[in-house]
Amino acid sequence: MAQLLLTHIRGLTIVTPWLLYLLSADALLSFLLPFKLFFPNTVYNLSSRIASSVWRWIQIIFQSLNGAVITTSGDPLPYGESAIVVANHIGWSDFYMIQALAIRSGMLGRCRWFAKIQLRMVPFLGWGLWAMGFPLVSRNWGKDKGELERVFSGITARKWPTWLISFSEATRFTPKKYLESKKWCTDHKKPQPEHLLYPRTKGFVTTVQHLRKAPHVKAVYDMTIAYQRGGEWQRAPTMWETLSLPQISREQQKGGAGYKFHVHARRFPLEELPYDDEGLAKWLEERWVEKGQWLEEKRTEWADASS
Ligand SMILES: *[C@@H]1O[C@H](CO)[C@@H](O)[C@H](O)[C@H]1NC(C)=O
Repeated sequence: MAQLLLTHIRGLTIVTPWLLYLLSADALLSFLLPFKLFFPNTVYNLSSRIASSVWRWIQIIFQSLNGAVITTSGDPLPYGESAIVVANHIGWSDFYMIQALAIRSGMLGRCRWFAKIQLRMVPFLGWGLWAMGFPLVSRNWGKDKGELERVFSGITARKWPTWLISFSEATRFTPKKYLESKKWCTDHKKPQPEHLLYPRTKGFVTTVQHLRKAPHVKAVYDMTIAYQRGGEWQRAPTMWETLSLPQISREQQKGGAGYKFHVHARRFPLEELPYDDEGLAKWLEERWVEKGQWLEEKRTEWADASS
C-alpha cells in the first residue's frame, strides 16, 4: 500500500513539470495560429520544434526515467523521409513505440496523427493540435473532406516533411471487438487477421491517393506493435502506468513491472502500391493479414522464452 502511494507520488513529481510545459507549449501553439495565414512555413517549422520538445520529454520519462526497453525489428527507415504511417492500436503506449522510430529517423517533430474531432473543443490542447496541422476527423468521410484537404494541401503544396500517422483499425483492440470484427469478416467474406481488427480502408485509400501528389512522400510504413506482461500477450500499460511505474521493463521477479515492448517496421515505396482504390484497399487488407501472422510468431517466441 505504502509502496503504491510512493509510486503515485513519484509519478506526479515526474509528470507535473512536463504537464506545465505541455500547457505552455499549447498556449504558444494557439498563439501562433493567426500567423499561420501569413507565414505558413515558418509556423509549421516552429510548431514542429515545439511539438518535438514536448514529445521527446514524455519519451524520456517513459524510456529513461521509467526504464522502458523498446525492442525493434524490420526494415531500416531512411533519415528525414516523409511517409504515411499505419499501425495497429492497442493502447496509449503505442504512441511511444512509433515515437521511438520517429526519433531515430529525425522525424519526431514532424509526426502528425489522425485524431478525434472532439479534441478541437479542448482549450489550448485541441487548438494546439489544430494549429500544428493534425487531421481532426469524425471518420465520416463526407464531413471530413474539408479537413483532410486542409492537411493534405500543406503536405502536397508546401512540401512539408511529415509522418502522417493513423491507426487503421480506428479503435483499440479488445477481445470483444475482435469477435465483432470476425463476424463482420464472415458476413462480408473477408479474411480476419489474427490478433487484429479488420482495417478501415477508406481513410488509407484517400490518404495515399492524395499524398501521391507530393513527391517527397516516398513510402508507406507499416508498424506492428506487440506487448507482453508476465506471460500475458498484448497486455499494454495504462497511460498513468507509463508515466509513473519505475522499472517498467524489469522482470516482475526482480521487482519490476515486467512489460515487454516491441515494434516491427516495414517500408513500402509508394510507387509499388496499386493505383486504383480497390487495389489499395486490398493491399492494406493483405498487410493486415501478414501483420497477424507476424504477431502470432512473436507471441509464440515470447511464450517460449518465458516458459
Ligand atoms: C522549414 O524547415 C525546412 C526543413 O528543415 C527548411 O528547408 C525550410 O527552409 C524551413 N522553412 C522556413 C520558412 O523556415
